[in-house]
Amino acid sequence: MSLKKMKTAIVGYGGMGGWHAERLQKSDVAELAGIYDIRAERSELARSRGIRAYASYDELLGDRSVELVTVAVPNDVHEEVVVRALRAGKNVICEKPVALTLDSLDRMIAVAQETGMHFSTHQNRRWDVDYLAMKQIYDSGMLGKVINIESRIHGSRGIPSDWRGEKKYGGGMLYDWGIHLIDQMLCIFGFANIESVFCTLDHITNQEVDDGFRILLRFRSGQLAVVEMGTYNFIAMPRFYLRAEKGTALLRDWREETQVVECTHWHENEVLPVQLAAGLTKTMAPRDELTTKSYTVPRPTADVHDYYRNFIASVRGQTPQLVTYGQMRTDLKVMLAAFESAETGRFVPVRGEE
Ligand SMILES: NC(=O)c1ccc[n+]([C@@H]2O[C@H](COP(=O)([O-])OP(=O)(O)OC[C@H]3O[C@@H](n4cnc5c(N)ncnc54)[C@H](O)[C@@H]3O)[C@@H](O)[C@H]2O)c1
Repeated sequence: MSLKKMKTAIVGYGGMGGWHAERLQKSDVAELAGIYDIRAERSELARSRGIRAYASYDELLGDRSVELVTVAVPNDVHEEVVVRALRAGKNVICEKPVALTLDSLDRMIAVAQETGMHFSTHQNRRWDVDYLAMKQIYDSGMLGKVINIESRIHGSRGIPSDWRGEKKYGGGMLYDWGIHLIDQMLCIFGFANIESVFCTLDHITNQEVDDGFRILLRFRSGQLAVVEMGTYNFIAMPRFYLRAEKGTALLRDWREETQVVECTHWHENEVLPVQLAAGLTKTMAPRDELTTKSYTVPRPTADVHDYYRNFIASVRGQTPQLVTYGQMRTDLKVMLAAFESAETGRFVPVRGEE
């Protein structure tokens, strides 16, 4: 059964607004109605690409054919743009981080509930194939219980030279990348499983907002995750490192396959000590194929447009919304706890919600 595509308008036709527009133009479930941007040159650019540019936000909201509004404006203006769309009877997808404070998110959720409109945030990195590779290992139990996962994104170009460098716009890498990397780890270990958060922030190229972070997530199950992002790393560490009861997995880069070394025999008789630097050690003697098995796991496949497919199907009452309010609140709580921890130097407890 083919359903009519859902007419969708985009607010904010910058980097990410352009990304949404391209995908909506090819969508099997949505149709791009047009965009609205406060900057005339962005509207001109849209028109030059054959996309309708509304003259004002009121004009967009007054277009009764538009059922869904995607909000892709800087972080500090999400709430006002989202609330106006919900009050105009539109369903809303808002870019991440959906809000800068929990109160702000709760006000948006309250308006969505009051108006009966659907509202969600764009956690598109749930379709990253590198993260999915780790989630598959976790969910399949192929390596037994997972002990910890380390997730890292390393670049060397500092913060992009736009609003991300200023606090008043909700800049900084914790808001920008933190929300994705935290969401991925909570999707793996469970949103209700989070117990506490420890964080340190970098200020290497920017004193006003963080230009990198490292977060330790402690889960009620006793498992741990490290989530790290750096913009001053001229040599990048591997994207993912996972330790489990039965072995170790390493994923260097999203383009690659996951390397796995499984422990087939724990005990090894007569381990020969090896010379390491200025000493001799049995503890660090490498394993061989008599006690381990090495192999690679193929890259998963994923289609990020499934985010829109799910959201539109949920608006039509066909399926539950994938990114739930409980998850949106937990992502934000963890991020805010990370800021608090960076300031106090302590673990900050968090109560998660599914
Ligand atoms: N999910 C992702 O992978 C991802 C990637 C990049 C950015 N983002 C998010 O998308 C949002 C936008 O980021 P960006 O990189 O596209 O920024 P950007 O600066 O490239 O674009 C923002 C656009 O919004 C316009 N704008 C500002 N205020 C407006 C308003 N009140 N009404 C209409 N237009 C307005 C600006 O003129 C600009 O064209 C941010 O929340 C960011 O965190 C998400």
